[in-house]
Amino acid sequence: MRTVHTRGDLAAALSPWRRQGDTVALVPTMGHLHQGHLALVERARRHGDRVVATIFVNPLQFDRAEDLAAYPRSLETDSRALSEAGVDLLFAPLEAEVYPRGRDGVTRVEVPVLGDDLEGAHRPGHFVGVATVVCKLFSLVRPHVAVFGEKDYQQLLIVQRMTEDLDLGVEIMAIPTVREPDGLALSSRNSHLDAADRARAPALHGALSACVDALQWGDTAYAALEQAARARVTAAGLRPDYVSIRRQQDLGPPDAGERSLVVLGAAWCGPARLIDNIRTDLPPRD
Ligand code: PAF
Repeated sequence: MRTVHTRGDLAAALSPWRRQGDTVALVPTMGHLHQGHLALVERARRHGDRVVATIFVNPLQFDRAEDLAAYPRSLETDSRALSEAGVDLLFAPLEAEVYPRGRDGVTRVEVPVLGDDLEGAHRPGHFVGVATVVCKLFSLVRPHVAVFGEKDYQQLLIVQRMTEDLDLGVEIMAIPTVREPDGLALSSRNSHLDAADRARAPALHGALSACVDALQWGDTAYAALEQAARARVTAAGLRPDYVSIRRQQDLGPPDAGERSLVVLGAAWCGPARLIDNIRTDLPPRD
């Protein structure tokens, strides 16, 4: 695996592949990699002749300076893992490579409506930061395919929508959430959990699963189910930001007849903010 840090070196590394018509699959990450990221790489390998991964802790998508400062960084270990997983090229730029004129006045990409609610409401500016950096990474790498995790379900829909609206011509692929045996979704932020918080953390997934079970039994009292899930998260010692039942397709509020649902949740567990979601497709009504 070759590692480059500048946009010039990136372009030089990509150019022979382009000339010979190789397809490129992109895996954008912020590093501190886990098995979930490696699952993205594995999918990328199946869909591109060449796999490019990026590691960039994008300051534009952090709504809190402490979160940005505390975000775990482990470039050396990450490089080894990516190389062993079969990545051909790693782009690990400094901020000045991505935002050469500084980030304050940079042109931004906004996906309205989809980006305003849930995570967008709790983390102002977050999705503008995500959409902007993903758009820039697409422009710099010009991949045929890009792979994202379903754990960040709202992010996935936003990237899909942006790619369509801006005619970016990149095929977006989604990979199911990878979990610990007790249900906790893998996340780079899990490394902030001490032993007591780690023991409590699966409660978010437990509450979302209970909500999905109730939906599968035909319960359509969405507000009551959300309230019960929040209470369960609170009882486990977490601080829920939201639990919400939405339409899978566009995260709009579902009516009682909706069959394709997603239950999304976010909660503070000690110093870490966990997010998770479970999609569920209900059987057609008779
Ligand atoms: O999901 C992430 O790790 C980030 O939001 C992404 C897509 C790499 C953009 O910085």
